[in-house]
Amino acid sequence: VPLKTEEHNVTQDVLDLLESKQTLQTSEDFPSIPQAEIKAALDRLASRSMVEYQAHDSEQVLLTPEAESIVADGSHEFKVWKAVKDAGKVPIKELASIVGAESAKVGQGNAFKNKWIKKDGDSLVLVADTVQDATRDLLKGIQETKTLSDNKTLNELKKRKLVTVTKVIDYSVTKGPKYAKEIPVEVTDLTADMLASGAWETANFKPYNFNALGAPQDAGSLHPLNKVRQEFRNVFFSQGFVEMPTNHYVDSGFWNFDALFVPQQHPARDVQDTFFISDPPKADKPRADPITEATMDTMEAGSRKLFAKPNETGEKPKSRDFEKYWQNVQDVHQKGAFGSVGYRYPWSADECLRLVLRTHTTAVSTWVLHRLAENPRPARYFSIDRVFRNETVDATHLAEFHQIEGVIADFGLTLGGLMRFLEDFFSKMGLENLRFKPAYNPYTEPSMEIFGFHKGLNRWIEIGNSGLFRPEMLEPMGLPKDMRVYGFGLSLERPTMMKYGVNNIRELLGHKVDLTWIKEQPAVRLEKD
Ligand code: PHE
Repeated sequence: VPLKTEEHNVTQDVLDLLESKQTLQTSEDFPSIPQAEIKAALDRLASRSMVEYQAHDSEQVLLTPEAESIVADGSHEFKVWKAVKDAGKVPIKELASIVGAESAKVGQGNAFKNKWIKKDGDSLVLVADTVQDATRDLLKGIQETKTLSDNKTLNELKKRKLVTVTKVIDYSVTKGPKYAKEIPVEVTDLTADMLASGAWETANFKPYNFNALGAPQDAGSLHPLNKVRQEFRNVFFSQGFVEMPTNHYVDSGFWNFDALFVPQQHPARDVQDTFFISDPPKADKPRADPITEATMDTMEAGSRKLFAKPNETGEKPKSRDFEKYWQNVQDVHQKGAFGSVGYRYPWSADECLRLVLRTHTTAVSTWVLHRLAENPRPARYFSIDRVFRNETVDATHLAEFHQIEGVIADFGLTLGGLMRFLEDFFSKMGLENLRFKPAYNPYTEPSMEIFGFHKGLNRWIEIGNSGLFRPEMLEPMGLPKDMRVYGFGLSLERPTMMKYGVNNIRELLGHKVDLTWIKEQPAVRLEKD
């Protein structure tokens, strides 16, 4: 089967035709080639100045199948007249069987009106010996020219469903200054040889196609969790929060539980709830960690530049007394201290030094608050990172997820102030009218669960946990008695699932995640529904 070259090389066809024709009209010269293909060919030639073209919007009047059959066989009235002429006399009852029901119905009346036929009793007889089938002639004209200038007639034909009008783009094409019979051979690479020989000076370089989309690149992309995380970071940074270094997942029971006044018998410290590390079997006692300390110094210094108040000096803290802190924590659990009766149980150092995958980022907040006690001053800290819980995995729970956590330390803080702060904070993600429900955490008193009305879901949802840290947690650190500290936490997964319409958390995190889906997800704006 010979290749139908005109379909495959429109570019060459245009050049060929222009040799003999001054102006091409694409709707006439290439009636069956798709619009986009013509345009691509013309652009290819125009970018090389081989042709010039202009586009015109125009309307085409096209015949419907019924109109086409009128052009072929005549109008309904013509068919009726022809039947009468052929037979001399046609009984009205028999007309439909000769010309068809449609023509008999529509054509009879018109043939009477045109005085082509008349009634003779129950039959039809001829009046005019020859007739002009004006409808057919009109439609035939339209078929040839695809136009009709008389608007009134056009509307009538449209109403009778004989024609339709469609928009077409027509290009008129003429030769350009560099017209040639063929596209000349084009150079696509500038080579060392061409530079050496001087051939580059006369070479015919292929023009750069700025409209080309380019090959799709297999680039990396941010996970939706990271996108939402960045939005939250921006909210925190804009309010003077300093980010905490959360870069180790393993911590001791001391930082994760004991320092938070979580008793050693608390169910959260059960293997059912917490992942324990067996190797190494034991953590060191809390001690200085110069690397994390230096990271924190840098983060605070950066923030101080932006948010320093006159009384906030950058003075270097005294060195931390971990030994004393350890003893204070033991005392407050075992025998009571700092005005608290404590839990009064034999506190075990071994339990305290067990290693765990941290169950909350509050372990890091605790580390940072102890650091703050060296130089107590108003401060705001946040973190967004991974935590681990020994949970049964289902559509809304994973054994690991991300926590967003904020801590605010200041003098004279009140519970009302925390509520107000949280209202501001969550309004930035489009959640208004918060509700607070009393709750229990070993390390905060009072504690509040936070509920928000989600406009998209049209219901109340639990969005976080919060409270004022207990004196039993803060005073062993050495923080002043009149300093209050707010804390609040929420998961990063929840708002991300809401924003991206994910119902199963396993589609967001873990081995079942569809990487194509990850790539296709757009950026997110917290404040937009
Ligand atoms: N640690 C809490 C949680 O895991 C969140 C929280 C942080 C609550 C700080 C109060 C204060 O849910």
